[in-house]
Amino acid sequence: MVRAGSVIKLEAYAKINLTLEILGKRPDGYHELRSIVMPVTLSDTIALTSTYAQTAMTITAGPGVDLSKIGSMEHNLAVRAARLMQLRYQVNAGARIHIHKRIPIGGGLGGGSADAAGVIVGLDRLWELGRPRTELMALGAELGSDIPALIHGGAVLMEGRGERVRGLFEGTPTPSCQGFWLVIANPGIMCSTPEVFRKWRGGLTASPLLLHNMTSSIRTSDVSAAALALHNGLQPAVYESYPGVAQTAARLQEAGCLGVLLSGSGASVFGLARDEAHGREISRRLGAGMWHVVAQTCPVV
Ligand code: C5P
Repeated sequence: MVRAGSVIKLEAYAKINLTLEILGKRPDGYHELRSIVMPVTLSDTIALTSTYAQTAMTITAGPGVDLSKIGSMEHNLAVRAARLMQLRYQVNAGARIHIHKRIPIGGGLGGGSADAAGVIVGLDRLWELGRPRTELMALGAELGSDIPALIHGGAVLMEGRGERVRGLFEGTPTPSCQGFWLVIANPGIMCSTPEVFRKWRGGLTASPLLLHNMTSSIRTSDVSAAALALHNGLQPAVYESYPGVAQTAARLQEAGCLGVLLSGSGASVFGLARDEAHGREISRRLGAGMWHVVAQTCPVV
């Protein structure tokens, strides 16, 4: 029996795609992907309170988050995730969801997906469901392609539409990585994910070498090697359609990043830094005019 008033608080971490290979178009209209995804220390804070009433959500925003970009509550992924959990597991209780957003909306950093992932994991605890993580990941996949990777957490290899996810170092000795420092910037525009995928015209980009190089640079915390292995198959289409994104990437490069890449389907871009001091130096050079944060990748496992 779920007690009304129980509260769970958790951080929903944004993600970056260090590699994003588009392997082709599938008969269901989606694209076949292969991507190395890592959570970063930029996060939304989620508070979940169990209630006997219907599920409801409130949102507040941190600096640089434009709440006018949030669609209707009915379409919000976090609300849809809560309703799906209620229905699937026949839960009589409801939940009050409060999200304090710091991850830019529609920014290719998986903010909406991270919130949905956090709600799924949090409600599993709040409602004492005890479902296995793989089951929660499959449930998340029904709502959005990035959600399973964010429920899994850590560095993952994401394949298929996004639903096939495994730990990047699964089955191998756990590496003791330090993680990468990076600067994430957002030009304040939104890229439409379906439109970006529609505009993708590239050929096959499957490269075992790319995957190998990025995996080993994460394992050895070699940020210079990681900078050389950065790849996003959607980047040309996004830079062409949204010149503001390409300009933001150029500014990160000029400010001294070791390598710069579009995150997901944009509009955020990130640049790798040698260490924290280098990240802060890049941030100083960028100045206050453009939204950006200095962050670090989260532990890999
Ligand atoms: O699954 P999600 O809602 O995140 O995807 C948003 C849109 O991105 C899809 O409707 C589809 O147009 C495109 N997409 C795709 N192939 C993927 C993931 C997303 O074409 N693997």
